[in-house]
Amino acid sequence: MASLSTNYMGLTMKSPVIAGSSGLTNTIEELKEIASNGAGAVVLKSIFEEQIRHETDKLIKEQGGVMGTMQKGYQDTLSTRPYDFNDALNYISDYAKEHTLGDYLKFIENAKKAIDIPVIASINCVSAYDWHYFARRIESAGADALELNIYVLPSNPARTPLENDNVFFEVADAVKQQVSIPVSVKVSYYFSGLTKTLIDLSNTGIKGMVLFNRPFQPDINIDTLEISDLVASTGIHDYEAVVKQLLAGATAVQVASLLYKNGFNQIARLNNGLEKWMEEKNFKTITDFRGKLSQVNVENPAVFERVQFMKLYSKIV
Ligand SMILES: Cc1cc2nc3c(=O)[nH]c(=O)nc-3n(C[C@H](O)[C@H](O)[C@H](O)COP(=O)(O)O)c2cc1C
Repeated sequence: MASLSTNYMGLTMKSPVIAGSSGLTNTIEELKEIASNGAGAVVLKSIFEEQIRHETDKLIKEQGGVMGTMQKGYQDTLSTRPYDFNDALNYISDYAKEHTLGDYLKFIENAKKAIDIPVIASINCVSAYDWHYFARRIESAGADALELNIYVLPSNPARTPLENDNVFFEVADAVKQQVSIPVSVKVSYYFSGLTKTLIDLSNTGIKGMVLFNRPFQPDINIDTLEISDLVASTGIHDYEAVVKQLLAGATAVQVASLLYKNGFNQIARLNNGLEKWMEEKNFKTITDFRGKLSQVNVENPAVFERVQFMKLYSKIV
């Protein structure tokens, strides 16, 4: 029988299929189902950097200190207009009443007790300021790893590409100083120099990179004139996609939409498909084929891609 076991950031996993961070990784019951369907690991629903900053500010105020203002780094990333922040502040104040940091830490502790696969906590952030200390609390609560969903959208016209890219390095550095558990960075493809930035990022001491986040892509409902659905972009939806990612060099894959659409048993379906494919191809372990079709093995990736493109387009009449 083929072994689906793999190693991601030093975590031994019995399958390369990870349940990605989403609203489906937010309760202990769901985590148990995810584990019993054979997931290799689970990434908990993210908390927001703003949540952490909000509670920190509140605590300082209660203790008689002066409540902090939104840090400059945070403001700079998002907007040139400080008044835009009232919306964020109001929203986060309401949200934080129902989702406290204490709840999140307790959730990590309970998750560790309830399931026997690695539990990866997640923070969604846009700057490195005032919240990174919380990574230590997450480690103390028992998380096996921490995924940083760094969500810098290039929407502030006053920012240069370099300034936007630097946020990733600042966050990685700040958090790495707080914890010894493995840290991964989840990114979108909004980089002006994607390849170089990701290579540089991989040299910062982070242990993993999650490629790619599903960017928030709101649609407009032309009947109600409101912003409505999220629009699907890319994703892992069948075992063939798992195989392709592993062949391209990934150590694991994360799934979210598939679980929303078709349920947790899709994890078992992906595992079964992968196992059957490995047996047909006579691969006993994932290491036998992982990265076989990676661009690393192509002498000149840019020329290779250009030729594929020319081959395809030259045939279209
Ligand atoms: C409803 C929903 C909620 C999500 N929430 C989070 C989140 O809290 N944190 C995060 O890092 N990613 C979140 N994601 C992104 C997923 O983890 C995943 O990266 C993305 O959906 C791409 O994979 P997919 O094609 O399998 O959906 C969410 C995705 C969906 C669909």
